[in-house]
Amino acid sequence: MILLKLRLSRVRSAKAMAAYQFSKELEETFQWLISRYPKKNAVLLPLLHEVQREVGYLSPDAIDCVASRLSISAAHVREVASFYSLFRLKKKGQYVIQVCHNLSCYMRGAEDLIKKIKESLSIEEGESTPDGKFTLERVECLASCGTAPVMQINDWDFHEELNVERVEKILDALKQNKFAKASYNERMQDGGLA
Ligand code: FES
Repeated sequence: MILLKLRLSRVRSAKAMAAYQFSKELEETFQWLISRYPKKNAVLLPLLHEVQREVGYLSPDAIDCVASRLSISAAHVREVASFYSLFRLKKKGQYVIQVCHNLSCYMRGAEDLIKKIKESLSIEEGESTPDGKFTLERVECLASCGTAPVMQINDWDFHEELNVERVEKILDALKQNKFAKASYNERMQDGGLA
């Protein structure tokens, strides 16, 4: 029985490998990562980041592939990936909007921001717009409680001290594919897109 399970799991791994494999660039990054750690499975977190960057999210095939390459179980990879809000287990929109709802942000109007985004995009939390452009997520503390309320777009475009009007401006810009600039100074020079 155990032998049968082992064979079945190998067959599944082989299928997953066929479905998704690292690109040439990712393979190079993977080799570089494992050369820097004493144990191969220690690269799990940085590797998941790289895979997500390549695939857009951590698909079941991508998780199977990572598990197979690190010789660990897919269940363990999924467990780790689902613990961190930075990792995505479902396909998301072009712009993933994450709004913090913890205490400081809550006290300074995070619920109003979430309501505004839901109305403006006609979606609920955790949903994506039908055109695949936006996904809205409510997340835990984004480590900027002193400048609450805050939201981030695609994990790196960070917006602080928000209010409904500024959120509206950001959404309008994104709808026109005018992606907000990375740095706060650049945004201010550009006319202050939040
Ligand atoms: S409570 Fe929102 S960033 Fe900490």
